[in-house]
Amino acid sequence: MAEGSNGPLQDRVAIVTGASRGIGRAIALHLASLGAKVVINYTSNSAQADTVSSQINGDSLVPRAITVRADISDPAQVKSLFDATESAFDSPVDILVNSAGVLDSKYPTVSNTTIEDFDNTFNVNTRGAFLCCKEAANRIKRGRGGRIICMTSSSVASLKTGYGAYAASKAAVETMVKILAKELKGSGITANCVAPGPVATDMFFSGKTEEMVNAAVEVCPLGRLGETRMWLRWLGSWLAMLGNGLMDRSFVLMGDMCE
Ligand SMILES: NC(=O)c1ccc[n+]([C@@H]2O[C@H](COP(=O)([O-])OP(=O)(O)OC[C@H]3O[C@@H](n4cnc5c(N)ncnc54)[C@H](OP(=O)(O)O)[C@@H]3O)[C@@H](O)[C@H]2O)c1
Repeated sequence: MAEGSNGPLQDRVAIVTGASRGIGRAIALHLASLGAKVVINYTSNSAQADTVSSQINGDSLVPRAITVRADISDPAQVKSLFDATESAFDSPVDILVNSAGVLDSKYPTVSNTTIEDFDNTFNVNTRGAFLCCKEAANRIKRGRGGRIICMTSSSVASLKTGYGAYAASKAAVETMVKILAKELKGSGITANCVAPGPVATDMFFSGKTEEMVNAAVEVCPLGRLGETRMWLRWLGSWLAMLGNGLMDRSFVLMGDMCE
C-alpha cells in the first residue's frame, strides 16, 4: 500500500481496536490509504494483525503501521496500547476507532443468557469502549480536530430476539458517547457512534444457520448483507475533515449504507 503519503490524514495517528479482522481491519487499511499512521489492535490473532500491518507498510523503510496486542476490557492493557502508540510514532493520538467487539454466537434469549456470557459481552463491548474513550479523551490534544468513534449496532434499535445482552451493551455505549461528546464541547474533538446493520464478517456468520443468514438478508434495505468497504467511503471522507469544525455533536449512524 504505497499510497497514503500526502493524503488528507497525512501523519495523523489512529488507533483502530479490533483491526485484525472484519470492519476494524477495513477501517485501518482505509485510514492508512488516507495517510494516517495506524495502530492495528487485536487480542488473539497476531498472524492476521501482522498481515494487516504488512499490507500497509509494504517495503517502506519507515513503518506507518504497527500491531499492538491489548485486551480492551483491561485498563492496564488499554493504557499500554496508548503508550505504545505514542512512543512508536512519537506523537499523540488523533483518532480512536473502537471497533473491537464480541457477540454471543449462541443467540440466547435473555432468560437463557449465562452470567458469564453477559459479563463477557459487557466487559468487551461496554467496559472496553469506556476504557478506550476515557483514555482517548484524556490523551487526544485539544484543538487538533481529534476524532473518537465507537462501533455500536443497529440491533440497539431493531430489538431482535437473541441479542439481549449484545444490544444492551451497545445501547450503553451510545448513551455514554453522546454525553462524552457534550463534555468535549470546545475541545475540537468529536465523539460519535456508528451503528452498522448486518455486515459480512466472522462475527456476523458465527453460529448462524443458513436460515438465520437468509432472514437477516431479508430485512436489509439493500436486499443483501453489508460489506466492510461500504463503510469506508463515508467514514474516510468524514475523518478526512479533521479539524474543520464540522460534525461537532454526537450522532448515531444506523443500518445499511447506500452505495
Ligand atoms: N458484523 C456485523 O454484522 C456487525 C453489525 C453491527 C455492529 N458490528 C460491530 O462492529 C464491530 C466490528 O465487528 P466485526 O464484525 O468486524 O467483528 P469480527 O470480525 O468478529 O472482529 C472482531 C475484532 O475484535 C477484536 N477483539 C475481540 N475482543 C477483543 C478484546 N477484548 N480486545 C481487543 N480486541 C478484541 C478481534 O481480535 P482477534 O482477531 O485477535 O480475535 C477482532 O479484531 C464490533 O464492535 C461489532 O459489535 C458488527
